[in-house]
Amino acid sequence: MNSDIIIKNHIDLIENRIMSFVPEVSPEYSVIEEAMKYSLESGGKRVRPVLALEFCRILGGDVEKMLPFAIAVEFIHTYSLIHDDLPCMDNDDFRRGKPASHKKYGEANALLAGDALLTHAFSCIASADLSSKQMIDAVRELSAYAGSNGMIGGQIIDLEGENKSLDLNSLFLMDKLKTSALITSACVLGCIGADKYEYIPSAVKFAENLGIAFQIIDDVLDFLEGEHNSDIISGKSTYVSLLGLEEARRQASAYTQKALDALEEIDGDTSVLKHFASLLLNRQS
Ligand code: IPE
Ligand code: IPE
Ligand code: MG
Ligand code: MG
Ligand code: MG
Repeated sequence: MNSDIIIKNHIDLIENRIMSFVPEVSPEYSVIEEAMKYSLESGGKRVRPVLALEFCRILGGDVEKMLPFAIAVEFIHTYSLIHDDLPCMDNDDFRRGKPASHKKYGEANALLAGDALLTHAFSCIASADLSSKQMIDAVRELSAYAGSNGMIGGQIIDLEGENKSLDLNSLFLMDKLKTSALITSACVLGCIGADKYEYIPSAVKFAENLGIAFQIIDDVLDFLEGEHNSDIISGKSTYVSLLGLEEARRQASAYTQKALDALEEIDGDTSVLKHFASLLLNRQS
């Protein structure tokens, strides 16, 4: 089957099922359910759950059974964006062309919608029809990659870097934590879901490099938005501010190539992952 069709099948599965993982609530506090669904609605690229499902598929796992793991990662990603846009963080009024959560529901509700998505990510994992060992391993890995030594640590470096110049090593660490960590968790959960733990080291190498390339392109696209972009306004260091647009793009290609090299270690058909990596490198949004 053609790579684009396989990716579309993954996205369709995610879109058709993601809302069913949001718990129904009583009318007295229905705003929380509404706010969670508002930010989960389509519009996002679904990069992380697609990676999770594709790793599971190529390693011979049951994609339907591991869907709750993929959804868990998208819940964490969505919470991270709601919080990232808050006035105390990047202070962005728009997300995916729509008002940010705090603009639509107010700051307190946005904070709580993020908290609820984070919390329920772990009940998604616990609901999977997989072994207890797979579910416990998924909880441990996802919490480690999303936590203080993962995405949160990266967000701290990012915020502390406002109006001061980070060197290339700190920038690499920041992007590895704030962006590669969650992308890595997706690929690792794909391996766990397929019960093919031996491929985790290669999946990690692939995802860490893909994540750096992904964040560099995000910074390139933010830069091209110009003076409207909050990261530009607050003087944050990025590959673009440090190296310029052309060298940043060159670095993104080089990290993508490293990611592709890691796939050679995997004994399976990695052509869809390769195609997806090149779509991400060449994306316009
Ligand atoms: C945005 O992630 C935040 C970064 C880590 C760069 P995505 O670009 O994956 O966001 P959506 O979900 O597709 O909007
Ligand atoms: C976001 O990085 C990373 C996380 C949310 C963890 P950015 O702040 O660059 O993402 P955008 O540009 O707002 O999507
Ligand atoms: Mg940010
Ligand atoms: Mg931001
Ligand atoms: Mg950005």
